Amino acid sequence: MSEVILAVNDVTKSYGDNKALKGMSLELKSGEILGLLGPNGAGKSTLINCICGLLKPDSGNLKMFDLDLKDDRQLIEARAKMGVVPQEIALVEELSAYENCMYIGGLYGLKGGELKDSVEEALNFVDLWDRRKDRPGKYSGGMKRRLNIACGLVHKPTLLLMDEPTVGVDPQSRNYILESVRQLNDEGTTVIYSSHYMEEVEALCDHIVIMDLGETVAEGTFSSLIAEVNDTETINISLAKPIDDTKVLAEIDSIPGVTNVENNGTELSVISERGNNNFNEIIAKLGEFKQDFTSIDLARVSLEDVFLDKTGKKLRD
Ligand SMILES: Nc1ncnc2c1ncn2[C@@H]1O[C@H](COP(=O)(O)OP(=O)(O)O)[C@@H](O)[C@H]1O
Ligand SMILES: [Mg+2]
Repeated sequence: MSEVILAVNDVTKSYGDNKALKGMSLELKSGEILGLLGPNGAGKSTLINCICGLLKPDSGNLKMFDLDLKDDRQLIEARAKMGVVPQEIALVEELSAYENCMYIGGLYGLKGGELKDSVEEALNFVDLWDRRKDRPGKYSGGMKRRLNIACGLVHKPTLLLMDEPTVGVDPQSRNYILESVRQLNDEGTTVIYSSHYMEEVEALCDHIVIMDLGETVAEGTFSSLIAEVNDTETINISLAKPIDDTKVLAEIDSIPGVTNVENNGTELSVISERGNNNFNEIIAKLGEFKQDFTSIDLARVSLEDVFLDKTGKKLRD
């Protein structure tokens, strides 16, 4: 078993009457990429800011290794092991990319050759070394974001907190960022990654916490979360021509696992219990009745379905 590096226990935080965190708990194990998935306003940034000490929680406990993050001195010690990539890009406009990284590295106590080498490494990592002399004002949204990531990495943190790092970036930078997170994780960095994009969380995170309105609504791996909500799958088939002989519908309906068959013109939907592997049989039956098809779509269950099931709302409204 990997060691627990961060333990968040029953943390609450309000802004006036607005309860942004209503008792969040989670455990993060060394080597994980933990995904915080939730819509705007779920409390992701509030939680990340409580972890890195930018905000003080109202109640509850936060521990990194055996350091109590509510204690100022222990928080400073813990912060040296944390890197933060905040949701709002935080760069000094008057400084070049290189100077921004030097500045942040200096704040973390790096000096001299070690500082220079670390900055070079971080800027190379986000592919901005060639543009190091430019000020952030000359950068695209994606490049600013990558520079922000470099700033979060200069001191080689054990735990990297990334708050919606792909919002407002072009697809190319987005892929670059996702790949970088994977690479950092392969090299041993533990990551907390917040996002409202379920595809990113699904692709990147082994441990997923789905949040809404300051609470955990579901937690687990992608497959355990999917298994919690859904025991059917739908196969949507577009037929080349409408059904000739309705006997085919009855025969598909009697295939083991099939619970419902709906037909409307050339559209055919077959609902089936999950894990029956009756896909080939359904296709074979259409072949038997000479019903050609133009496309087949096996509707995949997604984290969106999990969110809908648990909250009655869509992740993206
Ligand atoms: N500085 C703030 N002052 C007042 N309310 C805030 C502030 N920051 C966040 N909130 C509120 O707290 C809740 C959680 O926000 P936030 O943590 O930013 O969620 P997320 O990052 O998931 O979008 C929201 O209702 C938001 O409006
Ligand atoms: Mg946020």
